[in-house]
Amino acid sequence: MAEVTIVEVGLRDGLQNEETILSTTVKQQLAQMLIDAGVKEIEATSFVHPRWIPQLADAAQLTEGLPRHEGVCYRVLVPNRKGLERAAATGVDEYAVFLSASETHNQKNINKSIAETYPILAETVDLAVAKGKRVRGYVSTAFGCPYEGDVSLAKVIEVCEKLLKMGVYEISLGDTIGVATPNQVREMLKALTKEIPVTKVAGHFHDTRGTALVNAYVALEEGVRTLDTSFGGLGGCPYAPGAAGNMATEDLVYMLEGMGVKTGINLAKLCEVSRYAEEQLGKPLPSKVLQSEGLC
Ligand code: HMG
Ligand code: MG
Repeated sequence: MAEVTIVEVGLRDGLQNEETILSTTVKQQLAQMLIDAGVKEIEATSFVHPRWIPQLADAAQLTEGLPRHEGVCYRVLVPNRKGLERAAATGVDEYAVFLSASETHNQKNINKSIAETYPILAETVDLAVAKGKRVRGYVSTAFGCPYEGDVSLAKVIEVCEKLLKMGVYEISLGDTIGVATPNQVREMLKALTKEIPVTKVAGHFHDTRGTALVNAYVALEEGVRTLDTSFGGLGGCPYAPGAAGNMATEDLVYMLEGMGVKTGINLAKLCEVSRYAEEQLGKPLPSKVLQSEGLC
């Protein structure tokens, strides 16, 4: 394994569940610092209903003023046509759509059943593709639901196949509440990749129970080469009780670079991003590498 693509979701997933709402300027500074650290794929915000996620209500203003650099891709989350139209007016590079593999989480998160969500997302993907843009697809609660518990593998595969048929270029499998364990990740990927190529699969592991990094390692062993992380280990979903932060970008970069796998990210500069976020949020962040900084 020579290289792994890290999708930095801290500005979106990381901030959507925080009590402190950061200013647009601070978010833009964080984006610049991430770029200075070598991050190339940045999920910048979401164009959902501002009443549902007030932390990201500045999506349009933020996106319009993001620092532009060659080779850096900004992606935003959109739940429907309205979100896409709002985002398109700001000129982002890519979109991501999302739904859950469990009914109750889908209902709580986007106020629709899974069946009602399919045509909404299909329309959204069609519109994006017609504008010449790529769309990623998230499948939340793929490894477990905060309301229903276990989620069937067959349902996860069904949702992934529907998204791919709509035209998304990649599926990010969401362990929304951080319940997955390594064997489960391996079994899921072995089953899923019988149906869809592993090059179309990414991993999005939350670290609620400390298993994100080991789950990521197993995903890499199974051929996944794209992983989602948040600087400092920020993250969570307000509509998934118990969801904690994403796998920390620092922790994954440390592990991969130590294994001789290139990420293109400078760890010291990345830690500066998280330190600045700690200052701005007024609290320590959970990344282990960040906590160990300066120890040895
Ligand atoms: P709804 O109330 O069912 O929407 O919300 P609606 O279609 O019935 O419309 C109601 C009103 O909302 C209308 O306005 C629409 O125009 C407006 P009115 O006519 O009443 O004035 N509206 C919008 N306004 C702004 N932007 C929009 C939009 N859409 C409709 N995009 C909706 C449905 C999806 C909008 C709502 O439920 C919502 O915003 N949910 C977002 C929840 C969310 O962001 N969750 C976190 C992200 S997912 C996640 O974190 C998981 C992930 O990280 C992976 C993992 O960890 O598993 C990706
Ligand atoms: Mg998430």
